[in-house]
Amino acid sequence: MATDNLSEPVPSEPVDPHADLSSVLPMTAETRDGHLWVGGVDMVELAREAGTALYVMDEEQIRHQLREFRKWTTFHWKDVETVYAAKAFMCKAICRVVHEEGCMVLCASGGELAIALAAGVPASRVQVHGNNKTPAEIREAVLARVDRIVADSLLELERISAVAVELGVEQPVLLRVTPGIRPDTHGYIQTGQEDSKFGFGLNHGLALAGVKRACELPGIDFAGLHMHIGSQIFALQSYSKAIEVMVEFMAEVQRETSCPVRDLDVGGGIGIKYGLADEPSTIEQFGKVVVDGIKEECERHGLTVPRILIEPGRAVVANAGITLYTVGVVKDIPGIRTYVAVDGGMTDNIRPALYGARYECLVANKADQPRTEVVTIAGKHCETGDLIARDTPVQPPETGDIIAVCATGAYCHSMASNYNKQVRPAVVFVRDGEARVVVRRETYDDLMRCDTE
Ligand code: LLP
Repeated sequence: MATDNLSEPVPSEPVDPHADLSSVLPMTAETRDGHLWVGGVDMVELAREAGTALYVMDEEQIRHQLREFRKWTTFHWKDVETVYAAKAFMCKAICRVVHEEGCMVLCASGGELAIALAAGVPASRVQVHGNNKTPAEIREAVLARVDRIVADSLLELERISAVAVELGVEQPVLLRVTPGIRPDTHGYIQTGQEDSKFGFGLNHGLALAGVKRACELPGIDFAGLHMHIGSQIFALQSYSKAIEVMVEFMAEVQRETSCPVRDLDVGGGIGIKYGLADEPSTIEQFGKVVVDGIKEECERHGLTVPRILIEPGRAVVANAGITLYTVGVVKDIPGIRTYVAVDGGMTDNIRPALYGARYECLVANKADQPRTEVVTIAGKHCETGDLIARDTPVQPPETGDIIAVCATGAYCHSMASNYNKQVRPAVVFVRDGEARVVVRRETYDDLMRCDTE
């Protein structure tokens, strides 16, 4: 079930201390001389040199994932764009990788747009979405001439139109539709159901009214439809069902209006493997279900197949990333549990506290030993819920060891905070034996940068 890693109670069955972690580690991970290596770099040495907590990303894997998405979607239909959802992990370096790999960047705010443009991604390769873009964010997007703005409401359509007319441009716009599908995932990250703050519902003619308005407003070039049903989805039938609904709506748009639907954007949400028991679909399966689904449904309704857009975020970066921490206090409470406290926590990974997410962990400097101890990896922050992994197997941990937490490449750095005035960790890309800091560690000065007195 897709929710396993997010909300299940902690498993009580004994875990296999010899379990192979390679399916949740970055693809270039290996064990050499008892140490975990990624991208040809010794993680123990890197942790000692660059300090911890530290995010490490396997650049080869990020590129590989992007290529897989392009390959397995364009295999079925040539006109497909992979638009990386930058909220999963965002900095200038990732934008450059995404652009180099021929993919577009999806921005969820003016801040993300500023970073993508500063990274040198042409605006024609950038899209912007969000359920309540501010007037300033709309202006920034139109001014930059982004490829598409996904409009979520009539108010946004009016605002985009006003700015576009003022600037004398035609802004291509997609209309976000909630197809009324509730995928099997954590409630906080379901977005396709009718009761949602996102987009236009299909009932009561709301979405159709949105399309009509988009077509009549000056300055707006109605380009097509958008959906995003949720995140960390394992069951591909959710996409099939949503596609059926969306293509049926395309047919209605064709019947009721003179506005062609040139683009159909199916959003992101493809699930990844956090725990060893997780069984997400492959990118190949996802590509087939989505692209063939759209082609078949279009054929059934006698519609021209539109340009197809997909917006993976997590599936591009999650398994490429690990977080390294140094073990501090090891507190054994007899008969209860052992807490292993590390030099980070909910400030660099809020997901266990927010969604009950579970992660596999190992001691990077004992990577060749079995994970015989069941411990709770705790953060250093002033909250009991500040846990990275509850009752999880690791090699016998001692003060000074380096803990590696697997599959933290998505929604960890991007959701990090300065709670307790913790400085946010650096991000290091590793590839072919080279490590480069792409985001430096914050300093105490950074923490006071915005104080005005
Ligand atoms: N497109 C849209 C419109 C989205 O809202 C999102 C994610 C994506 C694409 C990418 O979804 P992905 O492929 O990464 O699942 N913080 C949560 C996830 C929130 C996702 C929000 N929207 C987490 O840590 O699980």
